[in-house]
Amino acid sequence: MTKKVLILPGDGIGQEVTASAKEVLDYLVAKHNLDFAITYMDVGGTAYEKHGSPLPDDVLVEAKKSDAILFGAVGAPKWDNLDWDNRPEQALLGLRKELELFANLRPAFLFNELASASPIKNNIIENLDILIVRELTGGIYFGEPRGLVDDQSPHYAFNTMIYNEDEIRRIAKVAFESAQKRNKKLCSVEKANVLEVSKFWRSIVSDMAKDYPDVELSHQLADNTAMQLVLNPNQFDVIVSSNLFGDILSDIAATLTGSIGMLPSASLNSSSQGMYEPCHGSAPDIADQNIANPIAMIASLAMALKYSLGEAKLSESIDNAIKTFISNGHRTKDISTSDDALNTNEVAPLIIEILKNDSAN
Ligand code: IPM
Ligand code: MG
Repeated sequence: MTKKVLILPGDGIGQEVTASAKEVLDYLVAKHNLDFAITYMDVGGTAYEKHGSPLPDDVLVEAKKSDAILFGAVGAPKWDNLDWDNRPEQALLGLRKELELFANLRPAFLFNELASASPIKNNIIENLDILIVRELTGGIYFGEPRGLVDDQSPHYAFNTMIYNEDEIRRIAKVAFESAQKRNKKLCSVEKANVLEVSKFWRSIVSDMAKDYPDVELSHQLADNTAMQLVLNPNQFDVIVSSNLFGDILSDIAATLTGSIGMLPSASLNSSSQGMYEPCHGSAPDIADQNIANPIAMIASLAMALKYSLGEAKLSESIDNAIKTFISNGHRTKDISTSDDALNTNEVAPLIIEILKNDSAN
């Protein structure tokens, strides 16, 4: 059956990096005769300018019908003062919520050749390989009630951090199962010393541990995890956390690798539909200069092939090609120590060249 791929470049460097991923995808489709239907649509500030909404209805309809969505990035300072509903970020939050993409997988791994780009000492981050499993459709991001009260004094604003048992179980299940496929260690992170919702989270995750006797479960408080990620990141294999804490911790983890331009992510629902996006943002300061690193987007395509498009072998080929690309010394500006960095549009052709030389492709 035809697999539907929706490409949403968004804003800033989202446009350039999705173009690179599309080149790699086109190569694989032609080479392996893949039955994929590929569609392009606008989201974010770009969609707001053209269609009056950061997430137009027809995009949402198409997204719901798609197997995999490749999402570039959204946002730029010029849209920061728009009403809440028109801000570019609403595209991201709306797609996550409407498609129920509750499981956000954010791998943070170090290409040892790039260790010098990390702000952390090499001996601490060597061989770093962490997977953060972040809950993405609940918690304080979406909890009700929420709002701003400005008709009484003092004015105030409030949000609600809320999780029900089912929401905790389904994300913890993804995390336990991910740990089973990796090094069998899971650290669940919350603030059980302060928040009822966290205490509840901890009790549910603890209760589930009996179903995964091969996984070593630990619990940490989020502030401690922030510190541990910097002091001794290699103690972690899989980390599971709520929407807000996962957001914060995944930025720390990505930064450890020194190359946020290399890291992909996947957001999945229970029917393997997924949205795939680089961990970096829209980087308006370097947009349209042909210098952004498209590897995170290409690696996100690899995740899409694995989790939503039934092409695990091709996914592995892309991951291997990226490793070869790095070990061959190819560098874009963000990870280069010299002046002669590759331009964005030079990366996909090199990856394709490596894929061609790999006998399986
Ligand atoms: C992320 C981003 C988003 C989030 C923003 C852009 C809404 O920081 O994907 O980590 O907070 O989830
Ligand atoms: Mg974030």
